[in-house]
Amino acid sequence: MDGNGRWATRRGLPRVTGHHEGVKAARAIVRAAGAAGVSYLTLYAFSTENWSRPEEEVSTLMRLLEDSVSRELPELMARNVRLRVIGRPGGVPAGVRRGIDRVVKATRDNTGLTLLMAFNYGGRDELLDAFRALARRVADGRLDPEAVTEADVAGALYTEGVPDPDLLVRTSGEMRISNFLLWQIAYTELWVTPTLWPDFGPADFYRALVGFQRRTRRFGGV
Ligand code: IPE
Ligand code: MG
Repeated sequence: MDGNGRWATRRGLPRVTGHHEGVKAARAIVRAAGAAGVSYLTLYAFSTENWSRPEEEVSTLMRLLEDSVSRELPELMARNVRLRVIGRPGGVPAGVRRGIDRVVKATRDNTGLTLLMAFNYGGRDELLDAFRALARRVADGRLDPEAVTEADVAGALYTEGVPDPDLLVRTSGEMRISNFLLWQIAYTELWVTPTLWPDFGPADFYRALVGFQRRTRRFGGV
């Protein structure tokens, strides 16, 4: 989700107003994904790199993310959405973590859309954490280094048990991955749209889904 800041700046508004609008866009896309029968939706809400933003913007984002997740709980329950968080728990203010954990626990048994929120997430950090976990198993003699499989790596990621994404949507026209799901997107279809995230609505989302359905995926074959 990219473009909140530009959306606001173009209107002469403070960047945080763009983040508030971004939350509204996220709510609409979660509904649209559920309605379309999507099984997994991952929202890249806050990256490990985002800590380098001005302190005021970071604290606003933290508060906003926790508030919106808490406020959405009744609707998540009504829509049978299960929330899961991917990212490093360390470094996130304890109150924010508690608030979000509460919603994760409350929605744990929901069976509809799984909503993954990438929060304090970095793709390389995720790989490092996975490699460390595997290295510990090797050091303990529980894993033979020569026998390590792709499934072992995938199972050590934050996304354990979640299938690789079929489609990655990037808003605001940036042609880069920005440290997102580096292992998981090996064969993911990319959809880049110039639309800024606050303007990205269900119609844009469905356009991306239809575009994806028209593609031929060959996974390196012919
Ligand atoms: C939202 O968009 C991303 C978050 C970290 C919440 P940006 O804040 O990156 O918006 P731009 O790139 O400045 O337009
Ligand atoms: Mg940005």
